[in-house]
Amino acid sequence: MPAKTAVVLGAQWGDEGKGKIVDVLADRFSVVARYAGGHNAGHTVIIGGKKFVLQLIPCGVLRPDCIGVIGNGVVLDPVAFLQEVARLREMGIHPDGKLFVSNRAHVILPYHRMIELAAENAPGRMKIGTTSRGIGPAYEDKMKRGGLRVVDMLNSALLRTHIQNACHEKNTIARALFGADPLDANKMYNEYARIAEQLAPYVTDTGVLLNQALRAGKSILFEGAQGTLLDIDHGTYPFVTSSSATAGGASIGTGIGPTNIGTVIGVTKAYITRVGEGPFPTEIHDSIGEALRARGQEYGAVTGRPRRCGWVDLPLLRYSNQINGAEWLVVTKLDVLDDLETIPVCTGYKIDGKVTDVIPADVRGLESIEPIYKNLKGWRQSTEGITDPSKLPTAAQEYLRFLEAESCARIGMISTGPDRAQTMWTPEFTAALNNMAVAR
Ligand code: GDP
Ligand code: IMO
Ligand code: MG
Repeated sequence: MPAKTAVVLGAQWGDEGKGKIVDVLADRFSVVARYAGGHNAGHTVIIGGKKFVLQLIPCGVLRPDCIGVIGNGVVLDPVAFLQEVARLREMGIHPDGKLFVSNRAHVILPYHRMIELAAENAPGRMKIGTTSRGIGPAYEDKMKRGGLRVVDMLNSALLRTHIQNACHEKNTIARALFGADPLDANKMYNEYARIAEQLAPYVTDTGVLLNQALRAGKSILFEGAQGTLLDIDHGTYPFVTSSSATAGGASIGTGIGPTNIGTVIGVTKAYITRVGEGPFPTEIHDSIGEALRARGQEYGAVTGRPRRCGWVDLPLLRYSNQINGAEWLVVTKLDVLDDLETIPVCTGYKIDGKVTDVIPADVRGLESIEPIYKNLKGWRQSTEGITDPSKLPTAAQEYLRFLEAESCARIGMISTGPDRAQTMWTPEFTAALNNMAVAR
């Protein structure tokens, strides 16, 4: 019998609507766990018109009976975490007692942000267009075995030594390379020792917690952050984030073995967007792109930056489904295409005059792609809020059938608006979830 677990992840460059879909599905799961990234994520959930944007805290906490876990694969900015808890409380959500932070997660400290900002803005450096949250430098420290873990932050002697040594190193580097002003180690220690006390009640061995939950027959939903094409290994490197956003990350980033991953659900918009720099073969550079941005409200949930818009890229979607072993696909923001007369979909690439759908590993290859498009018929009527697949306009049903046939995964859910209620399920997907017995 498959484990009662599912991964929900982004099949594109992030912002696919994962937050909304996790919130809809969380009703059927006992635990929702984040496994990668940090507060670079912005997951929007709208419930009866009330808007929540979650960055570090899993969307599951919005459901009264669901436990939220921040896994070891996440990089945790403790200040951002406590602010997010406070924001939730103000909105009537009380996560105490049902929100747990891994003692093995790595901590983002002020020098990570300082180094990132200085490096991004340094003359002659390649700009990634990061979220400036210190994510990359924190993962760098983790990988070079120089990071501070949550468990170590709770040990004040270790915290003091770590901050003193790290500030000495980072201040020296930042001054030499970027002329940055030094950070005060003593001030930082005093501040973070206080913060550690506030963080402590949430900290536990979440690997143990999750495995015990599984053994007790509970169900777990893994909430992906970012997207497959931003994955450190499989994304459009170097224009990626610094963690494993793909399905494998769910295992590494939580301590649940890979044989306990029940199914993988990829989320894709009915078009595609990207924030920040990097190649984007199907980007639309004219007024249609601007119209999509306006209609889809394509502005970053975290940074407010305008998102670049483009057409669905099937080679990239197939690639994502392959890397993730995605069985199911969720298509969001179908309603944003409602006005279009024709909808181009990229079915393959021409690179140096040769037709292919192999994704080049190098940025120069990605930039030289000429997308091959098939024009599909638009429906030119509103799909907003439709919750029955058979009530969708015929052309919209054909559009979805085409995406499904070409993407090597089955469409399980379709979203026709930002609200929790504006969602539909296919009978096959409902049956599959029921078969996995992911009821509480
Ligand atoms: P995430 O990072 O993948 O969780 O996605 P974001 O929350 O950053 O961005 C998705 C945006 O699209 C949010 O503003 C959502 O409220 C909105 N959204 C999600 N699904 C739909 C949909 O089906 N239709 C429309 N119009 N908006 C949606
Ligand atoms: P969610 O979970 C969209 C992008 C940044 C930048 C690159 C590296 O909301 O889908 P980083 O700060 O991670 O070092 O930035 O990755 N990026 C995202 N884009 N959605 C996200 O998260 C993102 N998280 C990071 O814009 O291009
Ligand atoms: Mg987002």
